[in-house]
Amino acid sequence: MGSYGNLARRVVATDMPIMVQMQELLRGATNCVSLAQGVVYWQPPKQALDKVKELVWDPSISRYGVDDGLPELRAALVKKLRCENNLHKSSVMVTAGANQAFVNLVLTLCDAGDSVVMFAPYYFNAYMSFQMTGITNILVGPGSPETLHPDADWLEKILSESKPVPKLVTVVNPGNPSGTYIPQSLLKRISDLCQNAGSWLLVDNTYEYFMYDGLKHSCVEGNHVVNIFSFSKAYGMMGWRVGYIAYPSEVEGFATQLLKVQDNIPICASIISQHLALHSLEMGPEWVTERVNTLVKNREIVLEALAPLGEGSVKGGEGAIYLWAKLPGGHGYEDFEVVRWLANRHGVAVIPGSACGSPGNLRISFGGLTENDCKAAAERLKKGLEELVTNGLVQDH
Ligand SMILES: Cc1ncc(COP(=O)(O)O)c(C=O)c1O
Repeated sequence: MGSYGNLARRVVATDMPIMVQMQELLRGATNCVSLAQGVVYWQPPKQALDKVKELVWDPSISRYGVDDGLPELRAALVKKLRCENNLHKSSVMVTAGANQAFVNLVLTLCDAGDSVVMFAPYYFNAYMSFQMTGITNILVGPGSPETLHPDADWLEKILSESKPVPKLVTVVNPGNPSGTYIPQSLLKRISDLCQNAGSWLLVDNTYEYFMYDGLKHSCVEGNHVVNIFSFSKAYGMMGWRVGYIAYPSEVEGFATQLLKVQDNIPICASIISQHLALHSLEMGPEWVTERVNTLVKNREIVLEALAPLGEGSVKGGEGAIYLWAKLPGGHGYEDFEVVRWLANRHGVAVIPGSACGSPGNLRISFGGLTENDCKAAAERLKKGLEELVTNGLVQDH
């Protein structure tokens, strides 16, 4: 006992979080600016923060709350789901962020040994959640080479040919790491394919408000569909840890089984955080979209910085806070090496595509910096990419 060999095989076989790997990649890089982490630069609404400041002494804040969330928050979310997301038959469970919502659902819907489907480039935490819950058969489908949209023809084939049928299919809309938005017709087709095959569809809507160029985010509903949402990015509440699950009210037993998982992980999401979420929600979606609109400029700045990679190399960015860039081929170096080099030589951090199942690419986040800081970071990135394209990974100074 007490040796590495006695640790659970499930967790040992799980990928190392990329944010932990980044610490190693960035070791030695001084004064490095980040276009890596998926965060936003703003804080929660001031009015909401002021209100929770007054609440901290209330004894209810320090007690456990109802497992599935403060009743007033759940009621407000049910209303929001109806009005904004066109979800009319969904019940709500509040979680400690969308990541915990995802793990809750994997534990509620899948057994160890089941097969599941996701699409490359995928959200690394979703992949790891499958790995650590004993799902070893993770089928990773392709995205369209032009748009990165999940390939529904491939899905149709996989769902009809795989025995047993994959238990769950998951997509992120708009996507992390690509920022690709899934058009309503494609989402509906994916949903229909899942329904016909008897698979669950889990849609991660963390970036629902982060849409650009007049595009509109939409959701699908059905007794085979579960949607997850997050307060983290929309309201600048990353550290407060609040997300939620919208699950089909009509599916017998869903609420009861989900509650078992919830009661054994957080019991309930932090009570003070739930109050902040409720008061933030009262600000309305306009509060969020006003801030999201400021990111249009950031996206333009980063797009310009990626120009040295050449036409057609940059994809996504229709939504979320990410652009997805293909590295020049034929040099034999890996995306991890490029990330280390950019950080050390040019002082700018980005995420290697390998972490998302697509080596040879980079994920660049444009949400975490104000316009001026973004400009400074983008300048470094541009300089680095120009050097990469012309001279490769030169090391001399
Ligand atoms: C697609 C996606 N889902 C979930 C999360 C995690 O969100 P939360 O902070 O609500 O756990 C993130 C955060 O980057 C994300 O990009």
